[in-house]
Amino acid sequence: MSAPISRRLACQLLQRTVRPSNPPPALSPPSTPSFSPAARPSPSQLCYQPWRPFSFRAALRDARPRPTRPPPGPDGQSEHSRRFQPFPVLAAGGGVFGLGLALAFSQPATKQPTVLDIPDEDLPLPETDAPNDNTDGLPRFRLSEVKEHGPQSERPWVTYQDKVYDITEWVGAHPGGEVILRAAGGAIEPYWDIFAIHKAPYVREILEQYVVGRIHPADLVDGRPAQDQIEDPFRSDPDRDRRMRFITSKPCNAETPGSELAESFLTPNEVFYVRNHMWVPVVEDVAADNHTISIELPDGDTRIYTVGELKKRFKQYTISAVLQCSGNRRKDMTDHAKKTNGLQWTVGAISCAKWEGVRLRDVLADAGLSLADPGEDAQHVQFTGLEAYGASIPISSAIDPRGDVLLAFRMNDVPLPRDHGFPVRVIVPGHVAARAVKWVNKIVVSDEESQTQWQRRDYKCFGPNETTQDWDKYKSIQEMPITSAITRTRLIRTVVPNPSVPFPAGKGSSITAAPSVESMAGQIVQLEGYAYSGGGREIQRVDVSLDGGKTWDQARLVNDTKLEKGSKAWCWKRWQYEGPLPEVTGDDNSKEKKTTFVVKATDEVYNTQPETHQSIYNLRGNLATAWHRVDFDCGTAEKPCPPQPGATAGTK
Ligand code: HEM
Repeated sequence: MSAPISRRLACQLLQRTVRPSNPPPALSPPSTPSFSPAARPSPSQLCYQPWRPFSFRAALRDARPRPTRPPPGPDGQSEHSRRFQPFPVLAAGGGVFGLGLALAFSQPATKQPTVLDIPDEDLPLPETDAPNDNTDGLPRFRLSEVKEHGPQSERPWVTYQDKVYDITEWVGAHPGGEVILRAAGGAIEPYWDIFAIHKAPYVREILEQYVVGRIHPADLVDGRPAQDQIEDPFRSDPDRDRRMRFITSKPCNAETPGSELAESFLTPNEVFYVRNHMWVPVVEDVAADNHTISIELPDGDTRIYTVGELKKRFKQYTISAVLQCSGNRRKDMTDHAKKTNGLQWTVGAISCAKWEGVRLRDVLADAGLSLADPGEDAQHVQFTGLEAYGASIPISSAIDPRGDVLLAFRMNDVPLPRDHGFPVRVIVPGHVAARAVKWVNKIVVSDEESQTQWQRRDYKCFGPNETTQDWDKYKSIQEMPITSAITRTRLIRTVVPNPSVPFPAGKGSSITAAPSVESMAGQIVQLEGYAYSGGGREIQRVDVSLDGGKTWDQARLVNDTKLEKGSKAWCWKRWQYEGPLPEVTGDDNSKEKKTTFVVKATDEVYNTQPETHQSIYNLRGNLATAWHRVDFDCGTAEKPCPPQPGATAGTK
């Protein structure tokens, strides 16, 4: 097996940077396993010793340009020449980085659950507690001085705990790119709370190389900057509809409420599920057409398009397509198998919308890519958004004439809402929504996948027994598998119905009087939901069971075909089912009298859902697509139905 990518990267970085005659200074306490000059392995040892712990850290330490500045004077001014040149995006004024300056310190940052929970590894954290006196020899800086070293300063600074760091020399080497400047002039903690990948001791070690002082005691409360001095990265996020079921608010992760999911074929924008990895970048309405997307080809040729130019020069297409998070129904996997790591979505991390924009393949062709023969170096198309999120898709998907991959400007007949990528996002129908990068401003055609954790680590599935994740072992999730869900259940009559009575449409057909538990058998229950398969594979059948899977019947597929647009079946099928409750056998305690409703779907190539979550369990809880089960409690069935917004009727 080839060496894992992280190790290969480390290998390449080391090969470029190892200079045996001039070993790097020791960067960490002796107790840590970082390389001492004497014990330093050769690059080839590093690459081919599989037992060696993840070595990207060491490689990065060695690869970064080490600052050689003298300590700044007490006024904080370095005697060094002002070497830092602002990035073009800053000059263009179209990036997110100007924000930090434009907005005042206002809201306290709150620690929020983060999406990726990478455990801290090998190294102990360096001691950073401040001495009470000046015995450390470091100058003290007021926070107002730190603020002057913001994103557009030639020497950007950040604070971490009570220390001040001049990160000028690190910016160009930062694996996450220029987004680091967003923290310049203030505290780094709120950003590291979002990017949990930084919560590793080796990252702290890198940071420690750039210390230039400590925060002045007058600005400290209990040894740390006061909370109200720490800028909230989410301060400019938009308001959201209260009907959403919020899982985290910073970053916003909110699912479409169950009552809205199968209500309409196109999910209204205000309740379309939101999956943000970070803050929502600010692009003013008037600046939307000036927003730029750079397109880089494998030979390095780069073309820059404005949104205005894309709209004007390229034919626009309209398609309807589902977007679905790979974590949709993750909570089901947790409930029915075991603990999973990630946002605990129920059934609402999926929605369907109409998207308008230009075809990516047309723009790539205009930029100079040969669609007939893109060449060996063109294997993947990488996307980066304004907030630094990045992902990629295979070239075959990107240029497929029937793939309908769009650079979309509009959603359900209006400009993209800010939460959904204003002014432009990628839409990759049939694929996991993690590839539909929002606020896209950079596209690179490359021989490799995007380097981000969201491409190479986060969205993969391991076997039920695989608790150690070798990230390079499996492919990233691209096309989605088949799934289905029950989104609403309601009792519709208290008497056994005439089977010839048609299914009541729309709202208002809810339960009348509460039946007694004894008389529940034969009462009519109505179920609704969705079924969806990735890759443009059409749903052909939805099977429903009202008795836990002992007997089955087929649901009615709602005929939404007139609303579908696109080269393949990119949309969900909504389904409805009406049937009599089975005889529920329980003990004398009515609360025990439950039955389980089950749904499973089959697509046009006869893919169907697995029966249990145990069989597809993976630590990250990705692709939780097992039969969807909803317990129906006959003892408490008189509870209001449909459920309150955000709840799924009958689910535990
Ligand atoms: C001076 C402080 C910082 C240091 C020393 C630092 C260091 C690093 C390192 C070592 C990585 C690679 C992690 C890995 O792949 O194992 C990384 C990635 C990254 N960092 Fe930072 N970082 C800093 C500040 C920031 C800030 C303030 C932000 C955001 C505002 C940020 C955003 C990112 C992003 C987006 C990635 C890439 C994640 C990915 O590709 O999956 N970093 N950083």
